[in-house]
Amino acid sequence: MQIQHPVINIFEKAVRKAGKYLLRDFGEIENLQIQSKGLGDFVTNADLKTEQILIETLKYYYPEATYITEESGKIIGNEEMIVIDPIDGTTNFIHGIPLVGIVIAKIINEEITDGVIYNPILDDFFWASKGKGSWCNNNRLRVSKRQDIIDCIIGTGIPHMDRIYPQYLKEIDAITKNCSGLRRMGAASIDLAYVAAGKLDAYWERNLNIWDVSAGVLLVKEAGGRVSQPNGESWDIHSKDILVSNSNIHEIIQEKLEII
Ligand code: IPD
Ligand code: CA
Ligand code: CA
Repeated sequence: MQIQHPVINIFEKAVRKAGKYLLRDFGEIENLQIQSKGLGDFVTNADLKTEQILIETLKYYYPEATYITEESGKIIGNEEMIVIDPIDGTTNFIHGIPLVGIVIAKIINEEITDGVIYNPILDDFFWASKGKGSWCNNNRLRVSKRQDIIDCIIGTGIPHMDRIYPQYLKEIDAITKNCSGLRRMGAASIDLAYVAAGKLDAYWERNLNIWDVSAGVLLVKEAGGRVSQPNGESWDIHSKDILVSNSNIHEIIQEKLEII
């Protein structure tokens, strides 16, 4: 078992504390207050409460850091950046689907150094630190070894409402007819964690924010996977579009997405 970096212990404390509240709300979904941030984009009182618990807990340890949060925006501090998505997979949560992640990551000089994703419903605690590997509940994670896209299951995000972009159906068509199946988890963080865990063999999505993918990118890298933009260009913390894979099938997916 890998000894967790002290920063991961702090992040774990924060997500487990927030996760207790979230779990209780998950059992009482009918009482959730749901507001709309835009077409098909919802925020619940659970998102706001979870984020508040995370910020309060983290600020005790990192009072000077800069916080980039989905619901409270940016809190400007020093060059140490902490990124928070209080519930990744809010729509799943609202519908009682247990695929959600509480996400925290640390970024220094544009590099993701540590990250956690906690699914309180399944009690899956994923973490990664640069050079220390990817882990879930004390088990080391490795990406899958599958070589042939025909044998692979690939995750994606299917855009809806005003997030739709012109070529998304063509992308889905190009990939789905060449693989064993597509999956739409409804939480980008879980897609990435599942690529790191070797459950999914690859995943691509467009129009994401840094809080959706921050911890997951590090999990995939530390599990031996590859991260780029869908066109093969390198991914950085400002990128909106992402392709991750077990490495072996990266180029073939890239090609199929590119010839559209
Ligand atoms: C969403 C989820 C979803 C992805 C969306 C994200 P949210 O995050 O990660 O899988 O397709 O683009 O916005 O809104 O549930 O935190
Ligand atoms: Ca999200
Ligand atoms: Ca969210």
